[in-house]
Amino acid sequence: MKNIVLKTSIPGPKSVALMARRKAAVARGPFHGTPVFVDHAHGALITDVDGNTLIDLAAGIGVVNTGHTPEALVKAIAGQAGKLIHGSFNVTPYESYVALCEKLNGLAPGKFAKKSFLANSGAEAVENAIKIARAHTGRPSVIAFEHAFHGRTYMAMTLTAKEKPYKIGFAPFNSNVLRAPYPYPYHDVASETAFTAFTDLATKAGPDTIAAVIIEPVLGEGGFIPAPKEFLAKLSDFCAKNGIVLIADEIQCGFGRTGTLFASEQLDFAPDLILTAKGLGGGMPVSAVTGRAEIMDAPIEGGIGGTFGGNPVAVASALAVIELMSDPAFLPKVRALGASVLKTLSSWKERYPVVGDVRGLGPMLALELVKDRASKEPFADGAKALVKHCYERGVVIMTAGSYGNCVRLLFPLVITDEQLAEAFEVLEYGLKTLKP
Ligand SMILES: Cc1ncc(COP(=O)(O)O)c(C=O)c1O
Repeated sequence: MKNIVLKTSIPGPKSVALMARRKAAVARGPFHGTPVFVDHAHGALITDVDGNTLIDLAAGIGVVNTGHTPEALVKAIAGQAGKLIHGSFNVTPYESYVALCEKLNGLAPGKFAKKSFLANSGAEAVENAIKIARAHTGRPSVIAFEHAFHGRTYMAMTLTAKEKPYKIGFAPFNSNVLRAPYPYPYHDVASETAFTAFTDLATKAGPDTIAAVIIEPVLGEGGFIPAPKEFLAKLSDFCAKNGIVLIADEIQCGFGRTGTLFASEQLDFAPDLILTAKGLGGGMPVSAVTGRAEIMDAPIEGGIGGTFGGNPVAVASALAVIELMSDPAFLPKVRALGASVLKTLSSWKERYPVVGDVRGLGPMLALELVKDRASKEPFADGAKALVKHCYERGVVIMTAGSYGNCVRLLFPLVITDEQLAEAFEVLEYGLKTLKP
């Protein structure tokens, strides 16, 4: 029960002082979910600048899936840093870039010849996927979904659904982006309804004007909603029949997060292009577009690239992540963890009326909080209060959802049962005492 007691030292005096410096020196725009400044971290534990230890249920927004500072990554990064920090693949290529592309081509779903391209961030992977799809089809339009989050650069932001805070003040956006409903059973958007609306939209636009459809197989920022298998199957058929490039954004749900390397594997989904970032580098900035070789080869030589994309140190880290996740025991353990966490969360739903819905895939699970079960009125203040309750007691957790009323679990997948139990004790106490 020790963590349920308020740790009056979180945020501690050093964090408070740093926050004052942050406010004076750093632009207002970048959000911080907690006012706690980290000093170092290992596994699923974060130590702040005041010496407090916090249990991490956020993993730097679903990035350190293999844990903070795992020995294998630290070794790979340090080893590479001593050999070559930067060469620029566009100037003097190096083998590890090719090796990572080979690995991704072999691991991504779909029994077809594949090629890959490396970049630095999720948003950059999204931008490049759209460029590749347009170059391949010669068509202008892209269909994205409601509740989608694809990043903060102009095309990625245009594809992102939520206005505040992601888009407000940044208009005009890119043209030729259309939006279709995402199946959201809890809010009465059934799979069939969503697919009918999608076909209506695509038919009215003219399928031969559509270059790409981009979808998160499990919505991330949108609230951890998995797309139903049948919806993805119909989408695949429609895109294949109409020569549209189908892109899966697995930037948040990929790299082991759902218990398989790609969430698409569990959804019997083999998109034309698949995007990875976050967990791919295990904390180093690297992203990838992987997909059908003939589509990937559409841009002319020099048409895509960048100074830093596929940086050797980040690539060494990604190769080490793949090695760790290739251990035959790694992913089955993550799946078992997912099953046990789902049980706990479902029992909370039975006991605490503020929990309206529990959903996700594998251990990528979220609680949707409501003020009232019948009206399903979003309880965003509750989600915010729960985050504060948690960090003040030594647990780092994040919100999600278009209405800001979800609390999502994105813990490092190597978290121990004891750490999870301790964190859940805090979280459950917060839920129990949350009053709409
Ligand atoms: C599904 C998804 N796509 C794209 C992005 C953008 O990635 P990045 O922040 O690395 O640009 C994110 C980030 O949260 C994401 O969750």
